[in-house]
Amino acid sequence: MLHAVARPQSDAPTHCVAEQYADMYRRSIEDPDGFWLEQAQRLDWYRVPTRGGEWSWDPVDIKWFADGSLNLCHNAVDRHLEVRGDDTAIIFEPDDPSGDGRTLSYRELHREVVRMANALKAMGVAKGDRVTIYMPMIVEGVTAMLACARIGAVHSVVFGGFSPEALAGRIEDCESRFVVTADEGLRGSKRVPLKANVDAALAEPDHDTPIDGMLVIRHTGADIAMTEGRDHWFHEVASDADCPCEEMAAEDPLFILYTSGSTGKPKGVLHTTGGYGVWTATTFHYVFDYRPGEIYWCTADIGWVTGHSYIVYGPLMNGATSLVFEGVPNYPDHGRFWEVVDRHKVNILYTAPTAIRALMREGDDHVRQRDRSSLRLLGSVGEPINPEAWRWYFDVVGEGRAPIVDTWWQTETGGVMITTLPAAHDMKPGSAGLPFFGIEPQLVDNEGAVLEGEAEGNLCITASWPGQARTVYGDHERFVQTYFTAYKAKYFTGDGCKRDADGYYWITGRVDDVINVSGHRMGTAEVESALVLHPKVAEAAVVGYPHDIKGQGIYCYVTLNAGEEGSDELYAELRNWVRQEIGPIATPDHMQFTDGLPKTRSGKIMRRILRKVAENDYGALGDTSTLADPSLVDRLIDGRRNR
Ligand code: PRX
Repeated sequence: MLHAVARPQSDAPTHCVAEQYADMYRRSIEDPDGFWLEQAQRLDWYRVPTRGGEWSWDPVDIKWFADGSLNLCHNAVDRHLEVRGDDTAIIFEPDDPSGDGRTLSYRELHREVVRMANALKAMGVAKGDRVTIYMPMIVEGVTAMLACARIGAVHSVVFGGFSPEALAGRIEDCESRFVVTADEGLRGSKRVPLKANVDAALAEPDHDTPIDGMLVIRHTGADIAMTEGRDHWFHEVASDADCPCEEMAAEDPLFILYTSGSTGKPKGVLHTTGGYGVWTATTFHYVFDYRPGEIYWCTADIGWVTGHSYIVYGPLMNGATSLVFEGVPNYPDHGRFWEVVDRHKVNILYTAPTAIRALMREGDDHVRQRDRSSLRLLGSVGEPINPEAWRWYFDVVGEGRAPIVDTWWQTETGGVMITTLPAAHDMKPGSAGLPFFGIEPQLVDNEGAVLEGEAEGNLCITASWPGQARTVYGDHERFVQTYFTAYKAKYFTGDGCKRDADGYYWITGRVDDVINVSGHRMGTAEVESALVLHPKVAEAAVVGYPHDIKGQGIYCYVTLNAGEEGSDELYAELRNWVRQEIGPIATPDHMQFTDGLPKTRSGKIMRRILRKVAENDYGALGDTSTLADPSLVDRLIDGRRNR
């Protein structure tokens, strides 16, 4: 096998070895309904489904397990009480290593979820209502999600690093009348004014949705403003009253999660209950080959889909112990990850290439000073992992003992789609691997012709899977346009991909105007819209360029209004402006003032040229003769060199 790294062997019983994978995969493709109805038995149902997938991509209408009913909070919490009520559900590791950590058994988690659910009900939250969760990485972030699921409310978690403006747009879009937040968040000892940000978001001039209630968790104890009648302290309204789980139809909405696309504002991707539940429970079981009693740590934030599927729903539905980490990899020093691994004897670590690269740069000592012998399996997610970082993760962090699962998936896919399975497959550094059960990837060229065998093209999926997003909240047409029109009757992922002779998939990155910054999806259009809101900016075009740590950096070309001059001060001002408009994750890495943008005679910006200039790759600019002003290219190159 080409460039393969043999999977490290272990004596422990495993959920899937190579022969089983081949059989199960075949069956999952030949008889998807039979296969998934069987997997659905991992969950507790009020009404056990008899129907599998009922879907069409032309017109787009997707259902799974439609005659079943269940509750995912029951599956993640209540159902474990009888057999493993005293087992640890959540380990909370605070930002400050000497701070107050917490460990919650399933029984304690149950109590906390019930208290949260009662607090939501006391504010008037009812089945079907959208609840915005804007929280730090603390236990109450998790219990708020589960409490919504318990009472049938639809959660919309907004990453705590987003600005008030970005938060306001997300509250408005799904007409969410309830917010759960905390006084402040903590990240690397820095305080994040979450409650003040929500207040600022609600005070935005174009914010029309009235807020009926805001639940505030006291976390740092900071002094904050509370609005009488609207804002409630969680500890004052929480109660232990009985709070049964709501029976939900399989296709009832579970959550909305906003994600960036190539055009317009972020889309509210909608996931429903039964299919998402089966998908995350099944993928967690096989991909992480989880064994009872193991400590599992996913370093993502609940504000992203990775946190939803693999901090909360996947692990808890499997009765696992999930570590919730409030901090960052480099605080108080670059050994923090390994200190946490040792302290809690973490067996499975799931993190992002950007964190691996940042830690690799700090040298091996931080890692080697720690024991890490508990680590059995390593995972990577969010962006392609470069082979150098993969090797370091494998050789230094895992000492060649722990297999790596490089899991490719998306907000829209609900859970892992392409990965190797730890005991079934050899690995190839830089390749996500093979399709998960039920997934048929297909590579197509730009005209939609299907490419067979070894090939490189646009990555599509040919058949629905239970965890697939069902729509874009409030805009089904946008869902159809974004994913199902580029290639007829296929789901188009937006990613480019190669398939090698062994059938392994190698994701090459986005082929649309989305960039991947530190594993976070960023629409270039969003950054452009933020820039042009500045009174001195006339036009802006944003592209990605290779960045050592972040994978891709944000490169902005900016033209100014007549009479304005580019200067270091304006550079700093615009950077700050984007941070304010969107949040620190959108901070431009590089900004170039230019007197024009390369456009065709019909006015279309030629991003290909902007990308090449940003990459310092001037030899490959291609045909520039269709530009309205071909001489601009030289000026752009000069501007790039002069910075
Ligand atoms: O480009 C792919 C990249 O991240 C995109 C999805 O981003 P998001 O919806 O924010 O979800 C991230 C976490 C699941 C994909 O279209 N991506 C994600 N995982 C990988 C990846 N690219 C390469 N390898 C991966 N393992």
